[in-house]
Amino acid sequence: MLITPDIKYVGVNDHDIQLFEGLYEVPNGMAYNSYLILDDKIAILDTVDEGFKSPWMMQIKEVLGERRPDYLIVHHMEPDHSANILHLLEEYPEVILVASAKAFEMMKNFFGTDFEDQRVVIQEGDKLSLGKHELEFISAPMVHWPEVMMTYDATDKVLFSADGFGKFGTLDVDDDWREEARRYYIGIVGKFGMPVQHLLGKIQHKEIQIICPLHGPVLKENLAYYIGLYDVWSSYQPEEEGILIAYTSVYGNTKKAMHLLADKLKAEGYTNVHLRDLTCASMTQTVAEAFRFNKLVLASTTYNGELFPTMRDFIHRLKERNYSNRTVAFVENGSWAPNAIKFMKELFAKSSGITFAENTVKIWSVVNPNTEKELEALAKELCNQ
Ligand code: FEO
Repeated sequence: MLITPDIKYVGVNDHDIQLFEGLYEVPNGMAYNSYLILDDKIAILDTVDEGFKSPWMMQIKEVLGERRPDYLIVHHMEPDHSANILHLLEEYPEVILVASAKAFEMMKNFFGTDFEDQRVVIQEGDKLSLGKHELEFISAPMVHWPEVMMTYDATDKVLFSADGFGKFGTLDVDDDWREEARRYYIGIVGKFGMPVQHLLGKIQHKEIQIICPLHGPVLKENLAYYIGLYDVWSSYQPEEEGILIAYTSVYGNTKKAMHLLADKLKAEGYTNVHLRDLTCASMTQTVAEAFRFNKLVLASTTYNGELFPTMRDFIHRLKERNYSNRTVAFVENGSWAPNAIKFMKELFAKSSGITFAENTVKIWSVVNPNTEKELEALAKELCNQ
């Protein structure tokens, strides 16, 4: 695939992977992107996952023919991009590695050597000329590992953005960029909003026409849209007015109550309402949806005297990712001592920017006339905020 006349795509599609990083379901697989810049000097930008050594190397050889690469630029040491560094050096022992000092420390841990005799250590603002192409390196620590660098090709106006602007899914599957990029960002990078904000500040004055991430498609059009979403996500602002109702339900009674709440919200004219059963919905998708909207209703059955386990897991995942700047409402159910709200509130105690809805709902086993009134009051409060 040609990105520009001098920049080639040499990445691979992984259709066999079930869980990315052992946590994130990837029904449409995963792409590990790698790029080649052909100039007087030749640079390869990142390798691919261990299992794709052969198809990756074949593409490199097909593009290069008799020519040989001069540099391997390593933006990020997570093994989905760095696993084939040694394999490249077996094939092309003269290649010079270009990476941050921290990345070379990690190489020593991964490979037993920090390549002292064949490396260029780069930091923020350093430049590398390939001939026509002038590369500038941008430090992006904690997006989402500490050693991350990005490369700006000032000649073709391309940002090689490491994991930034990536998504789940292979490049030969057509899916919704925003949905899978949000799930990827919130899941993997979401904790590191401040470093992403810092990065966005650094790139805002650069003329960028193409973004080449390490996962997902190369972005060539409407870049303000993608950068705008990254600004929203990394500043922990909701994308839109809407309510996510996330519930646990053992025998279906909390579920019925939450459907009733959704009906009442819709009767009030509030239609952007999404119901998710935490016992069977995708946890990674539901966490990402919680970040999408500005309001969240949490309804938990009481279990072993406190929260239902999947609700505890869900709230922990939100907190790990600095969930903030939103309204949260609470519903509890129990047959003899409903008290899940106390535990849910405690979990949010140190979260910043969370507003608790004034109205709460206590369900004694099933919805009764009093529960209906409480649901009605909560619906009105959520509509009028
Ligand atoms: Fe795609 Fe952080 O590795």
